[in-house]
Amino acid sequence: MSASPTTVASLAAMKGRGERIAVLTCYDATFARLLDEAGVEVMLVGDSLGMVLQGHPTTVPVTLDQMVYHTACVTRGASRALVVADLPFMAYATPERALESASRLMQEGGAQMVKLEGGEPYLDIVRQLVAQGAPVCAHLGLQPQSVNQLGGYRFQGRDHASAERIRHDALAMQDAGASLLVLECVPQALAGEIARTLSIPVIGIGAGAECDGQVLVLQDMLGLNPGRAPRFSRDFMVTGGSVRDAVEAYVAAVREGSFPSAPEIAY
Ligand code: KIV
Repeated sequence: MSASPTTVASLAAMKGRGERIAVLTCYDATFARLLDEAGVEVMLVGDSLGMVLQGHPTTVPVTLDQMVYHTACVTRGASRALVVADLPFMAYATPERALESASRLMQEGGAQMVKLEGGEPYLDIVRQLVAQGAPVCAHLGLQPQSVNQLGGYRFQGRDHASAERIRHDALAMQDAGASLLVLECVPQALAGEIARTLSIPVIGIGAGAECDGQVLVLQDMLGLNPGRAPRFSRDFMVTGGSVRDAVEAYVAAVREGSFPSAPEIAY
């Protein structure tokens, strides 16, 4: 494990060396310090905080102010891991809003990268963010901000047309300048194919074991959501004696490829 700060270039180099990338969500300074020390490469200030911290049924109510607040909490605690912050629902509906929102997450929050959900319709926004020096993480597959349109948290990419769209959007996002891609709830074979095709690192969640890295919601992998954690997640507190042990066990399991295992691979 390297003690030097994670950068966009070091993540790309990890992919080049075939080293898997361990990512966790994080929403505050205490956990940011702990995750940093445990060797997590990337902390995602996810809008999942709307569900796990605020108790909402979806991520839709999360506001930009709330994301800026939690991002600033995390960056105060982080010294090594790269901090990626989610652009929340509607905060990137137009290029102007996207630039304004990204500048708040990066200037006030201290994020080093912003993440947005969506494919083709957002390519120009990605190009504009990148042109202004804001690194972008794309998010394809299940896009939780669209839950009201999807009618639920549904697995994506099962049929030919949907798989083709995800393949196309992944490549287009890379071409538009995205530095990282999160694939959520897609078949392992599709995620693996995309990870092998793209030069940027592909981080999976519920997307099987063939991605360049994995991300989980912190509260899920610490067993704090009994009965609510998705089946692709794992409770690392079952074997870990402390929170620190559990996070270290997660990092090790991602690195050696033992997470996710067969029962955690949804498809
Ligand atoms: O909001 C979030 O935490 C996320 C991850 C689940 C990838 O987008």
